[in-house]
Amino acid sequence: MEIAIRPDTEAACSLVAAIIAKAVRAKPDLVLGLATGRTMERLYARLAEMHRDEGLDFSRCRTFNLDEYIGLPVEHPGSYRYYMNQNLFNHINIDPANTFLPDGMAADIKAGCAAYEDKIAGCGGIDLQLLGIGADGHIGFNEPLSALRSRTRDKTLAEPTVKVNSTLFDNPDDMPRRAITMGVGTILDARSAVLLATGKSKAGIIAQAVEGPVTSMVTASALQFHPRCRVILDEDAATELRHQDYYRWVFEQDPDWAEYRAAAQG
Ligand code: F6R
Repeated sequence: MEIAIRPDTEAACSLVAAIIAKAVRAKPDLVLGLATGRTMERLYARLAEMHRDEGLDFSRCRTFNLDEYIGLPVEHPGSYRYYMNQNLFNHINIDPANTFLPDGMAADIKAGCAAYEDKIAGCGGIDLQLLGIGADGHIGFNEPLSALRSRTRDKTLAEPTVKVNSTLFDNPDDMPRRAITMGVGTILDARSAVLLATGKSKAGIIAQAVEGPVTSMVTASALQFHPRCRVILDEDAATELRHQDYYRWVFEQDPDWAEYRAAAQG
């Protein structure tokens, strides 16, 4: 795991956008794993700006989202398909036919989950998986006790998740209690992963995920097994990390971060 602590949310989002842009430029038909949620909104706005102002080209990319609610039609403003169209896809030159989310309206959910795994494999696997982290440590919707080798499947959402996410619905009771999510194992199969977390409310769970034991009670902790996982934080989300000085030292020294350090300094 590599940790980058940036001065504020804007700088953290810019760093993640720069990582994604570099990957897209290096491999124009990149297979990109995407996340939804409040944290990603500024990042997606930044990617849309990079498309508009710098010609960042998504025309050959394929995308797979981590999760989708069960039972919400895609045109429902609470659905993740709707979120992705509004926040990213409508603002870049991606081919909508190359954007995939789990089908929360499938008549046969289990078959749909297996088909999603097959589709990812058929595209050659995910090159770069973007992740957020939930208050209970979930990645995707892998709630506490999700098997660390799990694959795409349906899950019941934990109460804290329902509490936080239902505020995004006009009518909080509309929020489904179940969702389809890539599994922890599916996520760990990605060739690289980038987790973005911002704000004080994430500080405690980030410390558990990064410095605590690997446990299915905090599924983000499984990222400690990933050979190429970067965790990008703003100062607020980093406040409870015990070894901040070490992470800052590595960020300043490591050649892998050199181009991003230079970009940050303008
Ligand atoms: C959503 C997802 C979730 C979110 C997490 C954080 O696709 O995968 O794991 O990343 O719930 O959400 P926010 O950013 O709203 O705090």
